[in-house]
Amino acid sequence: MAEQRSVSLLMAICLCFYFAQGNQAYEGKWKLLKKSIGISAMHMALLPNNKVIMFDRSNFGPSNISLPQRKCQKGILLSTDCYAHSVEFDPSNRNVRPLTILTDTWCSSGALSQDGVLIQSGGSGAGERVVRYFKPCVECDWAEDPNGLNVPRWYASNQILPNGKTIVVGGRFQFSYEFIPKTSPSDQILYQLPFLRETRHSAMIPNNFYPFVHLSPDGNLFIFANDRAILLDYIKNKVIRKFPVMPGGVSRNYPSTGSSVLLPLNLSGKSNAGFPEAEVLVCGGTLPDSNAKAAMGVFIPASKSCGRLRFTAENPTWEMEEMPRKRVMGDMILLPTGDVLIINGAAKGTAGWNMASEPVLHPVVYRPWRNNAKADRFDILSPADIPRLYHSTAHLLSDGRVLVGGSNPNWNYNFSTVHPTELSVEAFYPPYLSPTKSRPLISWIKPGVELGYKQKINVGFKSKKRPGKVYLTMVSPSFTTHSFAMNQRLLVLDAGPVVESENSAGSNFVVEGFAPATPELAPAGYYLLFVVGDDVPSRGTWVRIK
Ligand SMILES: *[C@@H]1O[C@H](CO)[C@@H](O)[C@H](O)[C@H]1NC(C)=O
Ligand SMILES: *[C@@H]1O[C@H](CO)[C@@H](O)[C@H](O)[C@H]1NC(C)=O
Ligand SMILES: *[C@@H]1O[C@H](CO)[C@@H](O)[C@H](O)[C@H]1NC(C)=O
Repeated sequence: MAEQRSVSLLMAICLCFYFAQGNQAYEGKWKLLKKSIGISAMHMALLPNNKVIMFDRSNFGPSNISLPQRKCQKGILLSTDCYAHSVEFDPSNRNVRPLTILTDTWCSSGALSQDGVLIQSGGSGAGERVVRYFKPCVECDWAEDPNGLNVPRWYASNQILPNGKTIVVGGRFQFSYEFIPKTSPSDQILYQLPFLRETRHSAMIPNNFYPFVHLSPDGNLFIFANDRAILLDYIKNKVIRKFPVMPGGVSRNYPSTGSSVLLPLNLSGKSNAGFPEAEVLVCGGTLPDSNAKAAMGVFIPASKSCGRLRFTAENPTWEMEEMPRKRVMGDMILLPTGDVLIINGAAKGTAGWNMASEPVLHPVVYRPWRNNAKADRFDILSPADIPRLYHSTAHLLSDGRVLVGGSNPNWNYNFSTVHPTELSVEAFYPPYLSPTKSRPLISWIKPGVELGYKQKINVGFKSKKRPGKVYLTMVSPSFTTHSFAMNQRLLVLDAGPVVESENSAGSNFVVEGFAPATPELAPAGYYLLFVVGDDVPSRGTWVRIK
């Protein structure tokens, strides 16, 4: 009798546990993809062939992968250096291919051009004026143009422009911007930008590193540095708007490293000016003196705050919100749903080697369209095992996962420091990849994957059941480094209702949408197109706006 009771009690506990697990929200999961890709993923870019190009710096000792074709160079740490510092990684089969970069790419910038060539700019030492090109194909490698930039640029930020050029903004000791690639005489002009001098990080750091640069839907550039922001007409070299100072006294740019995203542009909604309203979200960072304190071994707590600004509004003000975790060096990644993943980083200290402590292992997701109390816009997700601190990166993959890599590429690839050099890459599976959720599956795009501006498209997709809420998104691949995903952009397409298609085998649906109307909304080039059904995105299909 007693035995029976304990058995049924046990069963009740088991069932209870089972249901508790079943009801618990799925908070995502982590998967180690490769223990060593040979280098530390300090910079990351996704190409339209779904491979990811990564590199660290080329002069700080033996990496874990050799240069291809037995190439070697005169080294700084080694008399002959035969190690690669850039790789091509294929997330589908986890293959790693070493690539050749011979001048230093440390703390540089980049963007994918409209024809699918990765254009990287600057770095340090002999690499500070170099522009490098990587055109994807089976055997290709980097090509380096030693005089690609007018001036040295170390810690600059890039953005693709409506005319197809890339603007390179700032960098250490550079209070200016310029355009690449240099194809016409006017590209030789160097444009001054005093804002970068005025918004220096602190008295100790007379500079402005990795400013946050976003292309506004009106064609101007929104530029944010530490706690101030402007709208720049980069053609006339004129500041046309100055936004209010973000309250709170927190610094958001390197070395106080927070992050920033342009929130999804909803192309169905138009303001009076005829283009959709645009908002930025800037999260995390720390007080301006955190770096000086960390140099003395005092790691002060990072900031929990985010500021959100509707910068196309007439009189915008910063709306402040709080993340569930303090964070410096967090990466902000736009998910295909339009939500923002905040991942990597530390709760104390600043960017720099051994300048931070208390890794933040839990990513959080921010739901920009949730209207309830602001704190509820955030959800905490499953924690990682591997700390990702200084020089860690994250990038959205076409299948909806997020690739995470890098951390502390120490001098000499030192693995025995407090924060060891990290050569691994992992995938984070956001909650929409819960095994209990069914994903829409894109079956075709008509008339095709090459899109003209304003063009009408039909997207056919399969879904187990008819989804209630469906929308189409387009995401541009970013170039990510130092917690800033340059060129990251998400468009919610103007689309009609879902219709069931008649010639269906299984459940087939069609949704009609429109490509973005102008290159100011979406510069020409490659994007990932997703169908989002009941908040679950399909795998992305590469499309190209021409
Ligand atoms: C990379 O690391 C592995 C494991 O420690 C080692 O066997 C291999 O020789 C290393 N490769 C290079 C090129 O350093
Ligand atoms: C985009 O804007 C339209 C029009 O205001 C709205 O109906 C739709 O729900 C919005 N889409 C998303 C994904 O928020
Ligand atoms: C790695 O760092 C430790 C601790 O700072 C130091 O003692 C050691 O010499 C370093 N090793 C290499 C190979 O640089």
